[in-house]
Amino acid sequence: MNIVVLGGKGVVGRHVVDRLRSEGHEVLVASRSTGVDIVTGEGLVDVMAGADVVVDATNATSFTTQETYDFFRQGTDNLIEAERLVGVTHHIAISVVGTERIDDSIYFRGKRYQDAQIRKSGIPYSIVHATQFYEFLVAIIVSAERDQIVQLAPAYIEPVAADDVAALIAQLAVEGPLNGTVEISGPERERMSELIRRFVTSMEAPCEVITDPHAPYFGARVDDRTLLPGDDARRARTGFEAWLAQSEYARSSW
Ligand SMILES: NC(=O)c1ccc[n+]([C@@H]2O[C@H](COP(=O)([O-])OP(=O)(O)OC[C@H]3O[C@@H](n4cnc5c(N)ncnc54)[C@H](OP(=O)(O)O)[C@@H]3O)[C@@H](O)[C@H]2O)c1
Repeated sequence: MNIVVLGGKGVVGRHVVDRLRSEGHEVLVASRSTGVDIVTGEGLVDVMAGADVVVDATNATSFTTQETYDFFRQGTDNLIEAERLVGVTHHIAISVVGTERIDDSIYFRGKRYQDAQIRKSGIPYSIVHATQFYEFLVAIIVSAERDQIVQLAPAYIEPVAADDVAALIAQLAVEGPLNGTVEISGPERERMSELIRRFVTSMEAPCEVITDPHAPYFGARVDDRTLLPGDDARRARTGFEAWLAQSEYARSSW
């Protein structure tokens, strides 16, 4: 099978590529570093020629600006147009659990636009809504840190290993389009502020985590359930401690 992975060097994309290649598929990695830009459209049609499946594992480089929304709007429109031209038969997108109910974040509005356009594109599709990757915890800390104080909401999260999400994407690539959305989370539920406090302590990071129910999550208000998946979500196997033990963080200090 010929598969193009856009964003194939990113956190989840590189695992998707490794898994598909190990199963013997022909996989092309595409991103700006290989001359393909979904926002300008540069190189898109050429890289997709002959592809059966396109996995979109790209991400915006900022989370809170107008540029964030424009990335998803323009990028999704360009992707769909190129896929129609070359006749792609399965588009797989990765989005975030809670996208449909978070209104006050420009990032999630962008993700919602992406989901909506894919659903009405007429191209067979699968949308994967994943919870926060363990690999994303550092970005959460950085976004919430001011003067070594990290203020975080006590919202429940069920974070997941990016490689477990990649396993589901690789499976869908082979099995074919769902023409629907599937959620995936990790096996453990914990309050975001408590999990990050545990992470910061084990990393001996020079900051203090304060629990604040009003602290925004990338600009969005989040309550206990906002970031939780539904009962039908796939539950991945890798827990936080198992992930941490084999992660780069286990071998380095903050
Ligand atoms: N991170 C999480 O916790 C999480 C959780 C759930 C769902 N997701 C979803 O998973 C997807 C991937 O997230 P990630 O964290 O793996 O992303 P990431 O590590 O930031 O990687 C993003 C990739 O996109 C490429 N890219 C950026 N702008 C591009 C452009 N204009 N044209 C082509 N490629 C571009 C980047 O490569 P270049 O710089 O070479 O272009 C990079 O390979 C996102 O849609 C996100 O919403 C993420």
